[in-house]
Amino acid sequence: MKLFEQNFEKNESGVRSYCRSFPVMFQQAKGAELITKDGKRYIDFLAGAGTLNYGHNHPVLKKALLEYIENDGLTHGLDMYTDAKEIFLETFNRLILSPRNMQDYLVQFTGPTGTNAVEAALKLARKVKGRNNVISFTNGFHGCTIGALAVTGNQHHRGAAGVALSDVTRMPYDNYFGKDVNSIEMMDKMLSDPSSGIDKPAAVIVEVVQGEGGLNAASADWVRNLERLCRKHDMLLIVDDIQAGCGRTGTFFSFEEMGIKPDMITLSKSISGYGLPFAVLLMRGKLDEWTPGEHNGTFRGNNHAFVTAAAALEEFWQDDSFAKSVREKGAIIAERMQQITKRHSADGLFFKGRGMMIGISCLNGEIAAQICEHAFENGLVIETSGAHSEVVKCLCPLTISHEQIDQAMTILDNAFAAVLAAK
Ligand SMILES: Cc1ncc(COP(=O)(O)O)c(C=O)c1O
Repeated sequence: MKLFEQNFEKNESGVRSYCRSFPVMFQQAKGAELITKDGKRYIDFLAGAGTLNYGHNHPVLKKALLEYIENDGLTHGLDMYTDAKEIFLETFNRLILSPRNMQDYLVQFTGPTGTNAVEAALKLARKVKGRNNVISFTNGFHGCTIGALAVTGNQHHRGAAGVALSDVTRMPYDNYFGKDVNSIEMMDKMLSDPSSGIDKPAAVIVEVVQGEGGLNAASADWVRNLERLCRKHDMLLIVDDIQAGCGRTGTFFSFEEMGIKPDMITLSKSISGYGLPFAVLLMRGKLDEWTPGEHNGTFRGNNHAFVTAAAALEEFWQDDSFAKSVREKGAIIAERMQQITKRHSADGLFFKGRGMMIGISCLNGEIAAQICEHAFENGLVIETSGAHSEVVKCLCPLTISHEQIDQAMTILDNAFAAVLAAK
């Protein structure tokens, strides 16, 4: 253990995790690059677990934030009216909601991290429908507070709950049992049978691409049929777009091209654009049954995040050019990944995901971990996801350059070759 690691070991809780995979001391970050205290550079294929879609310290966002601070703009304002909040709401409406015919959605500012938005969505759905039960899916991940944890699949996280994780029925995600099992038909039958043992749910919560669950991308048909199922059985449809949203899949929302209209959408991670804590719940206006302060929280007005979020929307979402570049870069990375899977076809590798939320599934978590470790030694920060941590997952900034993609994919290519050759 290095000396600085011993300091953290002495003073910080054992719950820390990412730093164990990347045991160096970072000091600076710019775009898609992380720089250590001793000047070593890494390409960042983790990007704050999807929080830095626009890269580290984007100059336009930084300038907006510095000007706001210089001007003594409010940092914290509870949920009071501020010009920073007004500008964010106006910008979000003009550049995101209106062009997508989503003007009927209201924005709820929840506590600052993703799980807070999920808690708000679940609580509101249960309140509106007057029912406890919620359907969630195998391999879904929605956060670590109790309500969000209850709809999360991962046993490692669930095991730490300390209380019963109740009022949830788990159903198979698209393709969970392979192509021959239609999980929507299965749910329809169970929900239509008064003796199936399923209490009528208030809502269904789903990730259109499961991030932590291993880059499982639901098909457009499955998602559309899920929406129909929700309408048929009077359940609200909550799309958790915390990881897959904000452009990650090549459109602002992950479900955009599927033509669905969720009742609620959660966003966090990259919504502030700058890595500042910020989470929102979008809800169809008619669902806003909250009374003032009924769902509260001190940190629902991160004005710095409002400033950088509005600047990010202005910078990247005026038209389709940024989204188009994400689709193009996604295709380039996918092509390189598919070359790797073909080259090592005997090793059980396969390509997964959508847009710039893609990766390679390995035979097991041990191999995937070794590949990430090898890549890290050669200057690439990359993590795994999936039930067995078996998927090597690319979550790089969407603003990454073509040259950096090429460098990173060469490092990854070499890591697969080295680890699989030594097997
Ligand atoms: C889809 C999804 N929902 C919710 C969360 C929880 O967000 P947070 O870790 O900010 O609480 C995550 C985090 O990875 C996520 O990927």
